[in-house]
Amino acid sequence: MPTAKPPAFAKADTDCINLHVLEQDGCESWLADAPATVANWARAIGFRGAIGQSVTIPGEDGLPKQVLVGYGTSKDRARRRFILAAALTSLPKGTYRLTQGIPTDERAVECLGWLLAQYQFDRYKSGQDLDRHLIAPNGIDAAHIETLAAAEFLTRDLINTPASDMGPDDLHRAAQALADQHAATLDVVADDDLLTQNFPMIHTVGRASDRRPRLLDMRWGTSGPKLALVGKGVCFDTGGLNLKPGSSMGLMKKDMGGAANVLGLAHMIMASNLSVQLRVLIPAVENSVSANAFRPGDVLTARNGMTVEINNTDAEGRLVLADALAYAAEDGPDLLVSMATLTGAARVAVGPDLAPFYTDYDTDAAVLSAAAGTAADPVWRMPFHAPYEAMIEPQIADLDNAPSGGFAGSITAALFLRRFAGDSRYMHFDIYGWTPTAAPAQPKGGALQGARALFDALPQMLGL
Ligand code: BES
Ligand code: MG
Ligand code: ZN
Repeated sequence: MPTAKPPAFAKADTDCINLHVLEQDGCESWLADAPATVANWARAIGFRGAIGQSVTIPGEDGLPKQVLVGYGTSKDRARRRFILAAALTSLPKGTYRLTQGIPTDERAVECLGWLLAQYQFDRYKSGQDLDRHLIAPNGIDAAHIETLAAAEFLTRDLINTPASDMGPDDLHRAAQALADQHAATLDVVADDDLLTQNFPMIHTVGRASDRRPRLLDMRWGTSGPKLALVGKGVCFDTGGLNLKPGSSMGLMKKDMGGAANVLGLAHMIMASNLSVQLRVLIPAVENSVSANAFRPGDVLTARNGMTVEINNTDAEGRLVLADALAYAAEDGPDLLVSMATLTGAARVAVGPDLAPFYTDYDTDAAVLSAAAGTAADPVWRMPFHAPYEAMIEPQIADLDNAPSGGFAGSITAALFLRRFAGDSRYMHFDIYGWTPTAAPAQPKGGALQGARALFDALPQMLGL
């Protein structure tokens, strides 16, 4: 399934180019001590050590021998991610050895950025070989960083693949491929009758599409705490009978971004052999339009017996997740996590960079937020504000899938989901799953959000 080459560091090579990373503050004094051929040339072209700046110094044979890359000031770095990757495409092709400059605690993330910058979605059009390789510097765990990058490549590929090639069956195949790679098991509930009986809301949302709905259920690991991940796998969201206008539908191939993120996270967990009993549940459906589509005003009964009044068929994610969450909760997980491109309101609230998350556990929130900083995967805590529970309670059913009023859309969706998590220790991410404007190491397109931060936080959260 991954279309791009697996991200990897270069093997130590004698023919490599030395890469010096220079902070802006230390740049002038470094140049003062450097050979005149280096210092004069760097000054002549205006190199100050700013982010994105680089200088190539040739050897006597005219081939690149050394490059200087700007690392800016700490203030500049605070508003950027993946500084090394920002210079990557302006460097000559070749293999690089990092000689100095990146503080130890930032080195792993910068090296990850280098690998992430190699990503190209080349399924439909051949990419170009970037041909800029990095030898893993001492002191970083190269295999681990390669795993993180491979996970993000997988997530990006899944999201970038258009719905024509990423329907519920394709998502199923991708999950099967991941399960095979790690000797995990994958059970699938796809039969119409079984779905109707056991996961009625998954069936109801998915039934209008010829591409049949299903619930994917992956398990891996035999000891350790039980971790359940639930990902929204709406392979395309037309809005259903409450059809989205074209401008809102254009990007809806990414509505399986939660599924893509939990699969990326599952890859990190399994490849790192984390001692957890992992379960991944993905309701894979297409929210489509046809004569048998569910309707506004319908009342559905969820797996856990709660009744839900449909006030908007475009609030479908919470319906399919509800059944999957209820199922996950029955197993008594030690931690239950959902990831979903659930609401436009989350995007309005925090924009595309931050992964908003909800939890009732302050310690989990603090551990996750700290991990997000070091993992360069920013998150932002949102409140399960209990007084808003009234907003999701309609007149003729237990729950309303789409409260009117336009208030707190991400919060009310999160409160809706929490009703299905039983008494599990529950964390929910309402992600955007997409990079709208390319940035270093983050090409425009599908995005991993929150999954790397959570991966780093898991050992502390679960006492591993
Ligand atoms: N998949 C969308 C949410 C979405 C839209 C995420 C745009 C990211 C970008 C979801 O199914 C949806 O349509 N939600 C509605 C809910 C509303 C009808 C209560 C929304 O957010 O408008
Ligand atoms: Mg929708
Ligand atoms: Zn949706």
